[in-house]
Amino acid sequence: MTTISTTDRFKDFLKSIPGVGVILYIIDDFLHGIRTLIGTNVSISGSTHVQFSPEESVAYIEEVFDSYKKYGKFDKFFGRVAEVGPGDNAGVAMLIRKDGSTQVDLIDRFLSYRNPQQQKEIYEALAQKYNLEHLRAKNEWGEQALDSITWKVGQASEEYFKDCAQKQGEVYDFIISRAVLEHLYDPLSALRSMTNCLKPNGLLLHKVDFRDHGMFSALSHELTFLQVPGNVYPLMVKNSARPNRILIHLYREVLDSMKRDGLIDYSILVTNLVDVGNINPHKLFDDIDLDKQHKSIKFVEKHRHKFAKEFKNVDSKDLAVSGIFLVVTKK
Ligand SMILES: C[S@@+](CC[C@H](N)C(=O)[O-])C[C@H]1O[C@@H](n2cnc3c(N)ncnc32)[C@H](O)[C@@H]1O
Repeated sequence: MTTISTTDRFKDFLKSIPGVGVILYIIDDFLHGIRTLIGTNVSISGSTHVQFSPEESVAYIEEVFDSYKKYGKFDKFFGRVAEVGPGDNAGVAMLIRKDGSTQVDLIDRFLSYRNPQQQKEIYEALAQKYNLEHLRAKNEWGEQALDSITWKVGQASEEYFKDCAQKQGEVYDFIISRAVLEHLYDPLSALRSMTNCLKPNGLLLHKVDFRDHGMFSALSHELTFLQVPGNVYPLMVKNSARPNRILIHLYREVLDSMKRDGLIDYSILVTNLVDVGNINPHKLFDDIDLDKQHKSIKFVEKHRHKFAKEFKNVDSKDLAVSGIFLVVTKK
């Protein structure tokens, strides 16, 4: 079980002070790079289930699984599915297999810390609730004992899908993720490669959280991270997979270009607005209550004079969006 020590808490506190934080994040990111290079990096970014009881884990897995079908507007998963950045648990993949998919590939850049005993309990609880015995490939439940669910850990999705597009072509029916694209070092090129790996009529479904994940917002307002200059910010995040600050306008640019080429159709639902919070159910921006839209845009306009150069010409409406659910259909 990992615990957060007082020293770690103090370090997090220092990092959340703008200025001091920028320097500490750069050093920390550099050390991440070294540790990854020598193979001693222990990631906790995807250790979602560590703090959960088995019941809470099952509820989280169900919510993630249901959201793909709800916003993707389909009844059942089928064929070959890739889940990007599953973190410490394959529960969503199990429900996808139960639904009708024949193979699920789990692609993660890092091996997130997990507790094997706790994971076993989650798999048991899920199997009992959904009659998943047929997915148990060995005597005991464990992540390496799940029928036709394959972990591909240690590969960045940027590389995995580039390679997949070149060597395998259009092989996936669905490529999905929850809380992952904001951690990619190049999500826009990954999105293009994922599209190339999709079968015709295949779906990309990605929930992306644009917030700063507490980097500065623990002490300052939630858009403070947009003040860091564009040539400095990557030095703080690239190796450690902290939020990449690729926001909605850049996703739309890439998606519009693929749409113009006749490759895809797409919609972007808003999951979160700055200074407002969750938008549930997720909606197109223009369908959100006007009061909420205005509150959020007003907050952006109050703070935008301090933002880095790259955000100066970005519409306030776009900067107000702090989370999206992306639905892309390949033609
Ligand atoms: C916040 S966690 C989300 C985990 C899980 N999807 C969930 O809902 O709890 C982000 C995950 O993305 C993974 N990740 C970060 N960068 C990645 C990349 N370039 N390619 C694939 N996975 C990546 C991390 O290792 C981690 O498992």
